[in-house]
Amino acid sequence: PALAGGCPVSANAAAFDPFGPAYQADPAESLRWSRDEEPVFYSPELGYWVVTRYEDVKAVFRDNLVFSPAIALEKITPVSEEATATLARYDYAMARTLVNEDEPAHMPRRRALMDPFTPKELAHHEPMVRRLTREYVDRFVESGKADLVDEMLWEVPLTVALHFLGVPEEDMATMRKYSIAHTVNTWGRPAPEEQVAVAEAVGKFWQYAGTVLEKLRQDPSGHGWMPFGIRMQQQMPDVVTDSYLHSMMMAGIVAAHETTANASANAFKLLLENRPVWEEICADPSLIPNAVEECLRHSGSVAAWRRVATADTRIGDVDIPAGAKLLVVNASANHDERHFDHPDEFDIRRPNSSDHLTFGYGSHQCMGKNLARMEMQIFLEELTTRLPHMELVPDQEFTYLPNTSFRGPDHVWVQWDPQANPERTDP
Ligand code: HEM
Repeated sequence: PALAGGCPVSANAAAFDPFGPAYQADPAESLRWSRDEEPVFYSPELGYWVVTRYEDVKAVFRDNLVFSPAIALEKITPVSEEATATLARYDYAMARTLVNEDEPAHMPRRRALMDPFTPKELAHHEPMVRRLTREYVDRFVESGKADLVDEMLWEVPLTVALHFLGVPEEDMATMRKYSIAHTVNTWGRPAPEEQVAVAEAVGKFWQYAGTVLEKLRQDPSGHGWMPFGIRMQQQMPDVVTDSYLHSMMMAGIVAAHETTANASANAFKLLLENRPVWEEICADPSLIPNAVEECLRHSGSVAAWRRVATADTRIGDVDIPAGAKLLVVNASANHDERHFDHPDEFDIRRPNSSDHLTFGYGSHQCMGKNLARMEMQIFLEELTTRLPHMELVPDQEFTYLPNTSFRGPDHVWVQWDPQANPERTDP
């Protein structure tokens, strides 16, 4: 690689800015140069090593001992003293959950908490997801125009997440209000004057999560992953700790909500931009499961994830020192031609779509992946049936919340002729 002024950082590496417009517009495309020329590079701007090829990203995910996930939820933008003080006032103590927990603590905890994610258990949630989806579509199906994000794809996964976790109905509205702050706090670059406001919201979210947890402890017999965790704590207090439960009460909502909401918004945008593909899945719903997988590959909602090296090591032919922080770019891996033929093409019949790394890989791979898939499939089933004639509002500009990791358009405006709704002629 070309070295800038004798310093071991190439010009491209020096220019890499994950908060800049190129990465925000298309993270995979913005790192094509890296996949081709310098697949592992140090970004002085970020203070991270960036990993962009499929095999390397997978290898990092695979070895969670050398590449620890401990920094996965660390704030990527150093916070001001004032914001830190604000968080301290709320006794904010987000700690290890699962996604950022090291061995040997992680695996026993993951195993202890896995039951609610089995296909048999997830099947119980399907009627709730379908009912909610139908209710939201009912609200706009006759209107002729909707923002799919604001009117459905944001709220339904949030409500599903709250149900899945077992949050009492009466606390859902408050939890909903606070949940967004965590993303900006963790993966965003809030301006200094924004930081205190973000910290206030995060602090309140933390406290409220504690209150809800206490309420669930009074009667942990109910459905939901958090009551289940409280029951497991009674059997294994060293594995399912208090700190885990409080942290997951807050982090779990974000893990289940924004990831799925963004993935669904990306999927509708992508499918409607590729009109013939949309028409194909309208005609043949059996194509939906692989279409979901291909959407997760082509336009996934987790663009990058983080690891920290626990020992001197190598990735490809690059030496990585102990303590190095890594930004592993799942979105880039998913567009690596070394693994996917014609990776930029959107092909819902691609045989290896599900090799994508959007859910991570290995011992920390997303536990909620089948819940997310179920939600996305139901959204597509319902909308391809009820609004097959909808189209993107032309010339709309898609905007994204600037951050390294979570990716989905803020709005997806669609329009259709309600006179032509299939349920008018064939109720
Ligand atoms: C972990 C992505 C939905 C719960 C992860 C990781 C990623 C991810 C990238 C880290 C994987 C790794 O380190 O190897 C996604 C995406 C989703 C989604 C893209 C939606 C499209 C969900 C849902 C839940 C969930 C609905 C439900 C609660 C979790 C949990 C972990 C996790 C508990 C930690 C697993 C562990 O460390 O052992 N997810 N996720 N996720 N996700 Fe998801």
